[in-house]
Amino acid sequence: MEIVKMGRPKAKTPRKAVANVRLTDAEHQEMEATAKALGYSSMSEYVRFLHRERADALAVPAPPPIVPNVPAPRLFHTTRHGQIYHGDSLGLLHKTLKPGSVDLIVTSPPFGLVRKKSYGNEDADEYVKWFRPFAEGFKRVLSKQGSLVIDIGGAWKKGLATRSLYHFELLISLVRDHGFHLCQEHFWWNPAKLPSPAEWVNIRRIRVKDAVNCVWWLSPSPWPKASNKRVLSPYSDSMKDLLVNGYTAKLRPSGHDISTKFQKDNGGAVPPNLLAIANTESNGIYQAYCKAHGIDPHPARFPPGLPEYFIRMLTDRGDTVLDPFGGSCVTGEVSERLGRKWICSEIDAAFLTGALARFDPKLAARQSSLGKPYEIFPPCSLPINDSERLPAGGGKERISGNVNQISRAAPKSKKQSKIVQAAV
Ligand SMILES: C[S@@+](CC[C@H](N)C(=O)[O-])C[C@H]1O[C@@H](n2cnc3c(N)ncnc32)[C@H](O)[C@@H]1O
Repeated sequence: MEIVKMGRPKAKTPRKAVANVRLTDAEHQEMEATAKALGYSSMSEYVRFLHRERADALAVPAPPPIVPNVPAPRLFHTTRHGQIYHGDSLGLLHKTLKPGSVDLIVTSPPFGLVRKKSYGNEDADEYVKWFRPFAEGFKRVLSKQGSLVIDIGGAWKKGLATRSLYHFELLISLVRDHGFHLCQEHFWWNPAKLPSPAEWVNIRRIRVKDAVNCVWWLSPSPWPKASNKRVLSPYSDSMKDLLVNGYTAKLRPSGHDISTKFQKDNGGAVPPNLLAIANTESNGIYQAYCKAHGIDPHPARFPPGLPEYFIRMLTDRGDTVLDPFGGSCVTGEVSERLGRKWICSEIDAAFLTGALARFDPKLAARQSSLGKPYEIFPPCSLPINDSERLPAGGGKERISGNVNQISRAAPKSKKQSKIVQAAV
């Protein structure tokens, strides 16, 4: 029998590249001995193995794809410019809407409040995880030059006079994990907010009124379309005077050189990122409609001025605005009035039934109200008596005879606690 010797098949990716590693004699001997002891046929094989092991340890596992298994929501109502959907907005974000089809998302998600509200909040610790598929959906549907505006209230840790970081963690995750850019943080100050939490503010007197929500303005690109010319405020009296009588250019205490450029009338002042909007409306068309139809009004509605500010600054007429946590569809109502296309989705049908009041042609459309200005006193504007010592123990215990007379005893009833609130 003739034995045919087969040649070794050629490797598909032959190892032609050579790397020189400079070693001392001792290192060389040691490596060679170790490679042999471990069963490697050559030093090259040993080095390749070592490299593979280190490289695999470095590789970050790809996160699982986020395509939630949620049905598309159903169309609930349409208007001239808008569509209201009933259902989980994850379905809308990942299935119904086309990629890149939305110019602005302006929304107020359920807050991670410790004391859960009737509209269903997620626990603060779980919040960022819960938000992840929404964030991915937002990225999917936003146009390149679009914006994402999230109004989010802070939360107190349970039983403590200290704050949760959940809304800051959300912001960091949106930028770091989902690639959004933080264009500018805004703060919505509700001057009509009651003092709360009553225990820390009214009773122990160790914290101040929590009256500001963070509003994160983000975008998929660093250059979303925007113009502050759309949201100007009236000039202050001193600026009006300056425009009429002129200004002698001089250095300010801060070192800023106030040049004559400041004498140009630009039609109004560029507003600050503090939005003073009272959420006081209690007798509008929406409330009347809810009352007449036996519907509970939404407990956490936007004041219309809040979405209006961002819609005006960040969209043109005909652009598309989305509120995925629509509630009573204030965003829809404002968008309709401003001639923007809009989409709202809401998981709770009862809120949508009430929202219909906003789009009933028989009910007169509410016009944008020109806001009244608010006065903010500088800190420590009243005479201060600091001979009274600060609460011992940082207010850990309720102290009878504390600054607030009514707080000597814990309030026994809801009625009593209201009296405490009103007293501050
Ligand atoms: C803070 S409220 C928004 C209120 C709204 N800005 C307004 O002016 O009426 C949050 C809303 O999100 C809704 N919601 C919570 N999870 C949702 C989800 N997965 N899809 C759609 N809506 C959801 C809640 O039912 C609640 O009405």
